[in-house]
Amino acid sequence: MTEKTILRALKGEVLPTPPIWMMRQAGRYLPEYRATRAKAGDFLSLCYTPDLAAEVTLQPIRRYGFDAAILFADILLLPQALGPKLWFETGEGPRMETTTTMAAVQALKSKDLIHETLSPVYETVRILARELPKETTLIGFAGAPWTVATYMIAGRGSKDQGAAHDLKNNDRDTFAALIDVITDATIDYLSEQVKAGAEVVKLFDSWAGSLKGQDFTDFAVKPVARIIAELKARHPGLPVIAFPREAGNGYIGFAKRTHADCVALDNSVTPEWGAENVQVSGCVQGNLAPEHMVTGGEALVRETRRVVEAFRKGPHIFNLGHGITPEANPDNVALMIETVRNC
Ligand code: CP3
Repeated sequence: MTEKTILRALKGEVLPTPPIWMMRQAGRYLPEYRATRAKAGDFLSLCYTPDLAAEVTLQPIRRYGFDAAILFADILLLPQALGPKLWFETGEGPRMETTTTMAAVQALKSKDLIHETLSPVYETVRILARELPKETTLIGFAGAPWTVATYMIAGRGSKDQGAAHDLKNNDRDTFAALIDVITDATIDYLSEQVKAGAEVVKLFDSWAGSLKGQDFTDFAVKPVARIIAELKARHPGLPVIAFPREAGNGYIGFAKRTHADCVALDNSVTPEWGAENVQVSGCVQGNLAPEHMVTGGEALVRETRRVVEAFRKGPHIFNLGHGITPEANPDNVALMIETVRNC
């Protein structure tokens, strides 16, 4: 059997047509997702009900034939499994009980206890490993420690991650202890996903761009490098995708520094820049602006071709620069895929 296209690209092979998947491909822009989510009642129940989480993971595969499926879950399930309460405010986003003192860090659950909460996620992975088409790669994921810490510290999303920067700058010991706890738990969490059948794992560092200089090295590079090293020791050959979103020049050398097999690029950098500065060290993923899934038309076709052309000479997985939004038109996704496959 020929190897799956995504796995080939992750090994550095240059394919005539890049394999495709999309961040948040299971999401609110799809009527079938909204129907299953309604059946689950709320977002967290959807994440923790394996049959329904597997169902929404499969929906975009059935509709579009993407080359990869990403486990349906959320980066905030892991911190929730460490103890803090988590809920979603309708129309606003996530809320968490905050962790801002050494006592609170020490009161987090031991990493051996996270699986009690997270076992439904592993069951979702097992269902998907059974039910996905033979050619579709199954991607597991977790948040990178810095991004997870920003939510644990602020108790919510924020534009500038101010609360996390405050703790980092003013109570370094507590901040570093929290990063260590998340890093250790993330290794075990992803390792269980791999044992359950994930073939690739991805680390989402959505707020990496707000770390500068030495902070970027200490908190966007080092914890990710530690997770990757340990996962590869436990699961030889496991491919890892890292997404230090909006890292800018931090993208340069990121693969070498962390030993990630692929670096995902957001759309604040041009594909030409990405090819010249990042793809030179290996596979890249990205980076069409998600807005095109809302606006469609000629601009979508032109920019999709531009991304494919820019990355043509090296290993590339076609994706958006960030998640598809609820306002996207499902027809535009079909047009993007058709354009990539006819380039
Ligand atoms: O990509 C996928 O399809 C896999 C599933 C996935 C979700 N969230 C589902 C989800 C993944 C990989 C994530 C990652 C995630 N979650 C990140 C990192 C990536 C990024 O987008 O920057 C972050 C920061 C979160 C935390 C989170 N989850 C926020 C801030 C929100 C609310 C924002 C929103 O869009 O409402 C969520 C909710 C969430 N996670 C939804 C989905 C499909 C929407 C929930 C719904 O159905 O109402």
